[in-house]
Amino acid sequence: AGPAALAPDLAGRRVVVSAGGTREPLDPVRYLGNRSSGKQGWALARVAAARGAEVVLVAANVELPAPFGVRVVGVGTAEELRTAVLAESADADVVVMAAAVADFRPASVAAAKLKKGSAGEPDAVPLVRNPDVLAELVTKRPTGQLVVGFAAETGDDDADVLTHARAKLARKGCDLLVVNDVSGGRVFGRAENAAVVLAADGAVTELPEGSKDAVAAGIWDVVAARLA
Ligand code: CTP
Ligand code: CA
Repeated sequence: AGPAALAPDLAGRRVVVSAGGTREPLDPVRYLGNRSSGKQGWALARVAAARGAEVVLVAANVELPAPFGVRVVGVGTAEELRTAVLAESADADVVVMAAAVADFRPASVAAAKLKKGSAGEPDAVPLVRNPDVLAELVTKRPTGQLVVGFAAETGDDDADVLTHARAKLARKGCDLLVVNDVSGGRVFGRAENAAVVLAADGAVTELPEGSKDAVAAGIWDVVAARLA
């Protein structure tokens, strides 16, 4: 079915989606960043708008054209993303944190470009923690607002992907957690995706391998059922 066949099941809903990856400056020309392309967040915004939602996309360092009908708010750092997401989500029905937010930032930003120095040996870069935007959304959310987190996980010696994800869902306190298995370098920069949506009430929805639009549609199906 094409877009014309989409049910407007999100009509009248206000949705905020964060996308992309934050960049934390080190000096005027350098930053700490990550590989998030913003494509899954873009797909979420595009599909929500096509299904009738009023969509704000808080975009961290993404160079993609705005999806039709979507208002894009550009941000750079985690601190800027926090300010924008909290402001836009005050009266939202759904907030989806698809952005990759840097956990740490350089403790200070050099006013001038850092130089190698005479010894030529690199200094360590002291880091400090960034605010946890998702956790803050959960504590501040108005009644009835659905808060959705994302987690890219790998299995390790301690636990498999879903065990790590369930622990993260409980720790974050959000309603839904969209889990990507990124073992073996999967997902980043790719057009295709697959995910599992975990709910705080224990429900599990598997979204099969498909386009990022297809995965986005599956996520909105889960969300719409819970808004109804
Ligand atoms: N997130 C956030 N603010 C941060 C870090 C993460 O809002 N400072 C959000 C992400 O947008 C995502 C969710 O939290 O929706 C999970 O991110 P993740 O990095 O997996 O969680 P962390 O608690 O940072 O766990 P980890 O130590 O595994 O990185
Ligand atoms: Ca993190």
